[in-house]
Amino acid sequence: MSKHKVIYDTDPGVDDAMALVFQALHPDIELLGLTSVFGNATIETTTRNARFLAGRFAAGVPVAQGAAAPLKRGAPEPLAWIHGDNGLGNIALDTTDDAPLDARPAHRFIIDTVRAHPGDVTLLAVGPLTNLALALADDPRIAALVKQVVIMGGAFGTDGVLGNVTPAAEANILADPDAADIVLGAAWPVAIVGLDVTQPTIMSHEYLASLRERGGAAGQFVWEVSRHYEAFHEQSAQLAGIYVHDSSAVAYMLAPHLYTTRSGPVRVLTDGIAVGQTIQKPASMPVPAPAWDSRPDCKACIGVDVPGMLALYERTICGTLST
Ligand code: BDR
Ligand code: CA
Repeated sequence: MSKHKVIYDTDPGVDDAMALVFQALHPDIELLGLTSVFGNATIETTTRNARFLAGRFAAGVPVAQGAAAPLKRGAPEPLAWIHGDNGLGNIALDTTDDAPLDARPAHRFIIDTVRAHPGDVTLLAVGPLTNLALALADDPRIAALVKQVVIMGGAFGTDGVLGNVTPAAEANILADPDAADIVLGAAWPVAIVGLDVTQPTIMSHEYLASLRERGGAAGQFVWEVSRHYEAFHEQSAQLAGIYVHDSSAVAYMLAPHLYTTRSGPVRVLTDGIAVGQTIQKPASMPVPAPAWDSRPDCKACIGVDVPGMLALYERTICGTLST
């Protein structure tokens, strides 16, 4: 099987960092580049973190800086209480080996890279969707040239969960709902890995400790970078572990059989008290719904094999995929 050629669009972010390590160590993934976006921290911080992560775990992979703010709104405050003041759980960052910064803005890097590998590139987007919307605006034809877009974001109400920032909205979608509505409506194959499957997937304290013991430098890093994040989960959700958001998008790309999906067009509410809510019209629904019916189907994940996902991450970090 040929490798997944991936552009990782990211706002690192603790769970973004854990997902980067997952990609860097998995033999079936070829990282073509990292594109940064505002979100968990300012664009300056997420770009610095992307360069640190690429330099440390994915040598030779370029980083391009992306959007500092959403398409139509002001930039949100950094989520320091979740991801730490430096966006990476307040661990010390040795920036000696930082990846160099590509001269192009992220959306141009995306366009050029997709055009250089027509039909082959997966856009794995785990932050606000601003860079992808800007790429579509500059060059709408790339939609037909992308292999697939896999997004961590949104929620579709499984077990009553619609949001994690408001009762109706998930963080990545809420951070730029206008961009999200554009990206989910474009003519490229989209899979949405949202809270329906990322919140049931929990890395326990013991699981993370086992990665530290058995996963070498990568396992040690995953442990260290997740200390602040785990404390946040304990405080906010009384969880002895962490939700697995961004790494679930990686797992979906590698092993879609671990997920149950539902097809149908998706809209994003761009104003009102439920701004940022993602609503799917299931393909099986017979009533006409003009705001949905003209748009392509997306696959929304609504079920997950949790032990299978956790085993895939653990075996990748510990280097035991082939045993
Ligand atoms: C998403 O929001 C960010 O804080 C995380 O990195 C993840 O991408 C979860 O809602
Ligand atoms: Ca993220």
